[in-house]
Amino acid sequence: MPIIPIAAQRTAPLPPDDPNTQARDRLGRAMHDLRISVTDRCNFRCTYCMPKDVFDREHAFLPRAQLLDFEEITRVARVFVAEGVRKIRITGGEPLLRKQLERLIDQLARLDVEITLTTNGALLAQKARSLADAGLKRVTVSLDALDDAVFRRMNDVDFPVERVLAGIDAAASAGLGPIKVNCVVKRGTNDGQILPLAQHFRGTPHILRFIEFMDVGSHNGWKLDEVLPSREVISAISAQFPLLPLDANYLGEVAERWRYADGQGEIGVISSVSQAFCRDCTRMRISPEGRLFTCLFADHGHDLRATLRGGGDDAALRKEIRAVWRARDDRYSELRSEETRRAKVEMSYIGG
Ligand code: GTP
Ligand code: 5AD
Ligand code: SF4
Ligand code: SF4
Repeated sequence: MPIIPIAAQRTAPLPPDDPNTQARDRLGRAMHDLRISVTDRCNFRCTYCMPKDVFDREHAFLPRAQLLDFEEITRVARVFVAEGVRKIRITGGEPLLRKQLERLIDQLARLDVEITLTTNGALLAQKARSLADAGLKRVTVSLDALDDAVFRRMNDVDFPVERVLAGIDAAASAGLGPIKVNCVVKRGTNDGQILPLAQHFRGTPHILRFIEFMDVGSHNGWKLDEVLPSREVISAISAQFPLLPLDANYLGEVAERWRYADGQGEIGVISSVSQAFCRDCTRMRISPEGRLFTCLFADHGHDLRATLRGGGDDAALRKEIRAVWRARDDRYSELRSEETRRAKVEMSYIGG
């Protein structure tokens, strides 16, 4: 791909569209993943995502009629698959709060793609079996601490860690493993949990990943000095349990992979602050009411629901999706320092 100066990229006219080949965005990236947020609600109030003072009783969550229904979501997903998407992740908010989510999984599982789901794990113990029966293949569970007091403080609804651990076990028993366990690290809050978490999951097939605290949304009080760079995570773990680097599983994988030198499993680090990975960003996101977002840090989305509910056919949807992707030049994490004060979409609305 030729290197085009950024200023020119933003103004350059698009080359002609060839609908027989996969659409490329302005930086030459193809679309491989679709992340579908099915609700903007969550039963946790993680301080880095949905701080209680903002997401309180007065907060206006989306009314049900605004949400895409399962038939609409499946229809859109089918068009995305025709357009080249190979992986679909269900997110939220907390996706397991959406009633009868299994029905959606069942419909999506009929498409020729991998279906995964990101959850906080609170309802996983009771739902793992029905999700697997519906056709879900894998889950990713968020878990920010092993210590109960730290965990309760981070979810800020006093939710006990043992119920999430039971959810992880239930998911493994239901065949949803190996499970990826995501821990967002905030310096001074849960950095003391890195080693206990590593120790807990060592020797299991599960893959623990440490994520740098990001400046998503406009309300999470992000400060650079609370970001613990991934290289510090790797050196802390290595000092106790030596680690060796692993190659990426696929181009554009967000996690950098490491394995324990003694064969006790794999961990990962996701360094979107210290080492941005926009260059290979192949992700499209759709919000609960059907807006397309081409970046986690976008300030607006394209309203696909208007076409869906306005009688547009699949060809019209496909044309619109291609146009949105082709116009995309996002690389927020690489530009972060230049634009931190803009209003941005919330992570609890668009998903991780
Ligand atoms: P699999 O490879 O399918 O298991 O998923 P993944 O590695 O893409 O990871 P996952 O979807 O679990 O994402 C993990 C975390 O990485 C998210 O919760 C975000 O914090 C971060 N992340 C994922 N995608 C992006 C992205 O496009 N941009 C940025 N800045 N962060 C991302
Ligand atoms: N920084 C990094 N990751 C975040 N997530 C939510 N908020 C943030 C943030 N500020 C991610 C976590 C969580 C998923 C649902 O979203 O990975 O597991
Ligand atoms: Fe926490 Fe995930 Fe809920 Fe956000 S969506 S408050 S990160 S559990
Ligand atoms: Fe993709 Fe935006 Fe994340 Fe960069 S910041 S990797 S462009 S979603």
